[in-house]
Amino acid sequence: MFDRSVALGASAGRTLLPALVGGPTRRTDVRARPGDRREWQGEEGRPEGRLRVRMVAEEDLPRLALLDQAIFVGAAYPYFVLRQLFDVHGDRFLVLDHGAGLSGYVLAATVPRGQVSWILGLGVLKQYRGLGHGRVLLAEMLRLLTDDQVGEVRLSVEPHNADAVALYRSLGFTEVGRRDGYFGRGGDRLIMALLLKR
Ligand SMILES: CC(C)(COP(=O)(O)OP(=O)(O)OC[C@H]1O[C@@H](n2cnc3c(N)ncnc32)[C@H](O)[C@@H]1OP(=O)(O)O)[C@@H](O)C(=O)NCCC(=O)NCCS
Repeated sequence: MFDRSVALGASAGRTLLPALVGGPTRRTDVRARPGDRREWQGEEGRPEGRLRVRMVAEEDLPRLALLDQAIFVGAAYPYFVLRQLFDVHGDRFLVLDHGAGLSGYVLAATVPRGQVSWILGLGVLKQYRGLGHGRVLLAEMLRLLTDDQVGEVRLSVEPHNADAVALYRSLGFTEVGRRDGYFGRGGDRLIMALLLKR
């Protein structure tokens, strides 16, 4: 069961896992190197809330649905879809737990034969954004997928979602296509991909 305590602060986005940041097409080693910092301080050296990145549990589902709703509003998963994603992909479904609730999640699904995984969801509550949380969630997922011997991670992102695109680029993802109507009318998406070092 994946469960890692981290303390996150405003500087985390810049100090986290330098090993993750790779050139556009080169294979990227996402495993932590000795000396990588696993704990971070706030911008003024002030420790900020201790968070756990952990696997989602069945009892999280009601509040995970609320979290998803708060982040994605009209594009949130219906509860029954979230439930079944948990059933099928629960071991690659991570949440950020700040003790009093959940502040973010990331979900990945690996296609049969295990070569390619898709990031199906990544989100952080608005009041927690810009603190490195999204990067921690995705970095931990990439680490797990590397351990799974996955070769390539793909995702789709709305072309004007600059925050998300910047995060993905900073972790080495590159655009491999643009698909108009990917999610139907008005659902244009960029497809981004990252090769993992195995
Ligand atoms: C995308 C999202 C998950 C990022 O989470 P976050 O916790 O705010 O991101 P982080 O603080 O970890 O930032 C990581 C990187 O993302 C980029 N980023 C995040 N916020 C940004 C902003 N406001 N402006 C520009 N870049 C930004 C930067 O590259 C940043 O790295 P840096 O801090 O070293 O500059 C968050 O904005 C979110 O939940 N958005 C709504 C849901 C969504 O769009 N999900 C993605 C669907 S594909």
